[in-house]
Amino acid sequence: MRKPFIAGNWKMNTTAESSVALVNALKAAVKDVTTVDIAVVPPFVYLAAVAKAAAGSNIAVGAQDVYFEGNGAFTGEISCDMLKDVGCKYVIIGHSERRHVIGEKDDLINKKVLAALKAGLKPILCVGELLAEREAGKTAAVVTEQTTRCLAGVAADQLLNVTIAYEPVWAIGTGRNATPDQAQEVHVMIRKLVAKLYSQELADKLRIQYGGSAKPANAAELIGQKDVDGLLVGGASLKADDFAAMIKAAQ
Ligand code: PGA
Repeated sequence: MRKPFIAGNWKMNTTAESSVALVNALKAAVKDVTTVDIAVVPPFVYLAAVAKAAAGSNIAVGAQDVYFEGNGAFTGEISCDMLKDVGCKYVIIGHSERRHVIGEKDDLINKKVLAALKAGLKPILCVGELLAEREAGKTAAVVTEQTTRCLAGVAADQLLNVTIAYEPVWAIGTGRNATPDQAQEVHVMIRKLVAKLYSQELADKLRIQYGGSAKPANAAELIGQKDVDGLLVGGASLKADDFAAMIKAAQ
């Protein structure tokens, strides 16, 4: 049995005050939840304060990105050890906004995944096709290539520290979620790929989240799919009540 995992990616939102208020409200709303892994993913500058507020609760904290080098002259970047130092357990790597707005490629994302695992952080590796790629029938090819390249060099005994998030780019922030069938189809494909790259046993244990306009109204149906093991939530994670409702839908 894969334990559901719901993570809230706050993206470039909140303030020093509202980030702590949001995690405090969420803490109260989900305090009795034990059967779902929960994470919030604030902007870098609020990580320490949010982690402090969440300490001792059932809410873990993650970062939205990381750099693969350990330290040194990398202006503007943040290392794995820095994230751990401020209380992060997870790190999102290869989010579509970093791929398509900032221009990150699979080889950089792969280096970040390897560095995070080596440092003891748990990567949430995002993959997903553009609308034009889906319409051209290339979804499987794109997701296969991204997953294979970004997992290169990840050892079998490290794999279960990774969560894969399938996030079709056309569904992110658009209000147009993938249908449960569309999500399930790609999740099955990813799991088969992981079985081929590693083993059926590891593939059966690996958690695959769906992301892209997930909200309270569609959460239960999406999570109800056999191979959808949780959600990576953007917009709807900025409201404690909405995000809590989605976590409860996964219970
Ligand atoms: P959204 O974002 O829920 O706002 O569509 C999801 C994501 O980018 O992780």
